[in-house]
Amino acid sequence: MEQRSDKEYSWAIMKKILYLASKNNGKILEYKKMLSNVNCQFRLQPKSIEVQEDGLSFQENAFKKARQVSKKTTNYAIADDSGLCINSLDGAPGIYSSRFAENDQKRIKKVLNELEGVHNREAFFMASICLFSPKGELIISSEGRCDGNILFQPRGNNGFGYDPIFEEKTTKLTFAEMTNDYKEIYSHRARALKKIIPCLMRIFN
Ligand code: IMP
Repeated sequence: MEQRSDKEYSWAIMKKILYLASKNNGKILEYKKMLSNVNCQFRLQPKSIEVQEDGLSFQENAFKKARQVSKKTTNYAIADDSGLCINSLDGAPGIYSSRFAENDQKRIKKVLNELEGVHNREAFFMASICLFSPKGELIISSEGRCDGNILFQPRGNNGFGYDPIFEEKTTKLTFAEMTNDYKEIYSHRARALKKIIPCLMRIFN
């Protein structure tokens, strides 16, 4: 039988690289946990890549991020665009969630101010996720949604962004009160990501 050289063997066991097109630390932690069964070398978007998130939908922004990172790195890239949509604010902050105010604390304050005296607190988180090939072509995309209500006061210490004011509908817990295991079941991003994990496993495992 033909023997493999050490060099050939190391090539054979080398994992393919998957870039996450994001600089958001909160998201990065969630991804690492949820993709623990995907046998890839997980890398963060190189700091030098700047993507303008000027699309008019979550999907358009996610495609822009993954396309640019996959083309520039010539590797697979996964990206998401997500945000909080509040029914009585006509879907705001929506695609502008990260730019709604200067930082998380100010964003939360702004939402609570805008909802002062408003009875209908219904809201949902949306996430659009996509995977692009090393040639910069779309392989798969998916969407996930999580429904809930905006509280009158923040509750909980975990998570990031609008987590402390968003109470998930079925558990009545805010995202900031949920453990990572719970957020993996209920979050919009987890729901979108779960749909594409079989495809990721076909490519990387
Ligand atoms: P993106 O990084 O452009 O997708 O920005 C999404 C923004 O929406 C974040 O910066 C947060 O403000 C908000 N957001 C998205 N997902 C979540 C979440 O799971 N919890 C809290 N805020 C979120």
